[in-house]
Amino acid sequence: MENRDAEVVEKISVLKKRRNAVILAHNYQPGEVQDIADFVGDSLDLSQRAAETDAGVIVFCGVRFMAETASILCPEKVVLLPDVNAGCLMADMITAEQLRAKKKEHPQAVVVCYVNSPAEVKAESDICCTSANAIRVVESLDAQEILFVPDQYLGHYVSTRTGKKMILWPGFCPTHVRIKPERIKELKREYPQAKVVVHPECTPEVIALADEVLSTGGMCRYAQRDEVREMIVGTEVGIIHRLKKENPGKRFIPVSEQAICPDMKLITLEKVLRSLEEMGTEVKVPEEIRLRAKAAVDKMLKVGRK
Ligand code: 13P
Ligand code: SF4
Repeated sequence: MENRDAEVVEKISVLKKRRNAVILAHNYQPGEVQDIADFVGDSLDLSQRAAETDAGVIVFCGVRFMAETASILCPEKVVLLPDVNAGCLMADMITAEQLRAKKKEHPQAVVVCYVNSPAEVKAESDICCTSANAIRVVESLDAQEILFVPDQYLGHYVSTRTGKKMILWPGFCPTHVRIKPERIKELKREYPQAKVVVHPECTPEVIALADEVLSTGGMCRYAQRDEVREMIVGTEVGIIHRLKKENPGKRFIPVSEQAICPDMKLITLEKVLRSLEEMGTEVKVPEEIRLRAKAAVDKMLKVGRK
């Protein structure tokens, strides 16, 4: 570690105690940010941690929808996003107004909302899901018609696994569509023993080649199995840091080095420190929206993990 980084890490540690703060980081965060976090996980893990913590301040090293979910669950806590511009391109592919219009076209439909969405969209939805529990959430519904927003690929995957017909919103993750089936086929030839593990935000052609389709947290747990020695990883490259750190001696091969989420990479150690110094940027969901969004998130948390 560079001297400057060591100094910043030390200052973060001192301020964190003084502020009674907890640092939560997503599995796609830069390695040095993951390393100073109290907890690293997927969207579901992080929302559960946020709900459980007794810290007064949550520094959320991830993107806006994740910090919003923490704020929805813990309105009494100060939730800080170290870079105000850290958004999610998929979450930006839907607005509450657009969803309201779609609901008018399908008045009987139950709306299932992927957590990668704005709080206002959650507030218009019946139940939330993450990549870790989407199948269970949809299976739990007794509905003739399901409207799934905003990720068409996760929605398509869930409909193939549950046999439920769903109306799909045309959103997608620009990072995950960079993961190509041709490259997976090449890597399988190069590493015939490797397990192919991909995220459900990938296209159906990619999913068809996978041994396992898992959330980022699911990938980290799967990598720890004894029989997994080599893994071809179809998701954002930030996860490779954690996989290697927790599994020395195993080989992790990213399908695409270009599968980088630019928003996740906006968070740096310097910004985490500034966030704790200045107590910014606070993410707070207006109470009227929060209460309706919370109903959808709470229903999801009751269903639990996959
Ligand atoms: P996970 O919930 O699997 O960590 O996924 C979040 C995400 O944004 C994937 O692009
Ligand atoms: Fe959003 Fe894709 Fe980034 Fe995940 S990887 S936060 S879905 S843009």
